[in-house]
Amino acid sequence: MAKRDLINITDLSTEEVDEMLDLADRITAEPEKYQDACAHKKLATLFYEPSTRTRLSFESAMYKLGGNVIGFSDANSTSVSKGESVHDTMKVISCFADIIAVRHPKEGAAYVAAHSCDIPVINAGDGSHFHPSQTLADLLTIRREKGRLDSIKIGFCGDLKFGRTVHSLIDALLRYENVEFWLISPEELTLPGYIKEKMTGAGAVWHETRSLEDSIPELDVLYMTRVQKERFFNEEDYIRLKNTYVLDREKLSAAPEDMIVMHPLPRVNEIEVSVDDDPRAKYFEQVKNGKDVRKALILTLLKWKED
Ligand code: NCD
Repeated sequence: MAKRDLINITDLSTEEVDEMLDLADRITAEPEKYQDACAHKKLATLFYEPSTRTRLSFESAMYKLGGNVIGFSDANSTSVSKGESVHDTMKVISCFADIIAVRHPKEGAAYVAAHSCDIPVINAGDGSHFHPSQTLADLLTIRREKGRLDSIKIGFCGDLKFGRTVHSLIDALLRYENVEFWLISPEELTLPGYIKEKMTGAGAVWHETRSLEDSIPELDVLYMTRVQKERFFNEEDYIRLKNTYVLDREKLSAAPEDMIVMHPLPRVNEIEVSVDDDPRAKYFEQVKNGKDVRKALILTLLKWKED
């Protein structure tokens, strides 16, 4: 079969997403069964932007499947610093690897990467656009914690303008029944209009608000985000907005007992460390779920290419 890429979460059908999450659960339950599933295969992690979790979880997932990893975490140490294009770098890397995970500061770079080579490409974050493998980690977390992906009341809080994890997770959740959205952000960091149009077009119920306190009692899931410093044009705006929302124990006391708190991490100030001990805090679980689901993703894309 022709190769398939994951640039946006909607590149997968809802059934394929559900199957991916099922596979992640099966791999987690019986890791030995999959320990050689990617033997003799190579994953290239090409990171043109900083990362801790995403790159290391892709790499650790591949090693756990018996595969190998090559790549770079600093494009300045590669021919990119000599002016090589994304297109040429991908063509070259596809001679050395079987699958690529790429992160790039420019929106659309992963799409270009996918169209430059004949091996599967996973978008590990392109600018403020999409981050679909994080979305799979987020969906797996919601499903494991709440037991469902439909009929969820979810609040996104913080930088909804530049936060790519928010954009991708909304795209995914719009395909499930009866999901209601609270968009909690300062005026300057509201969700882009084109995504709100998509939500309205899909018939979703959404509320835009400035107040975390007013929204929190309504929610099943609170998805906190970092203000994306690197996407700001001016430092003053960042400094003014960075501490708009800080989740602390007092604010959390108004939340339902069974609400969960998620965050793609890294956190800066937006969740106080004292919240970590609350049983509702699930952001470190989210990291583990990310590794589980990336195993399923690598395995599935390699299998589709071979079939
Ligand atoms: C996110 C990202 O890179 O978009 N982090 C991640 O991949 N887990 C969120 C962020 O950087 O704030």
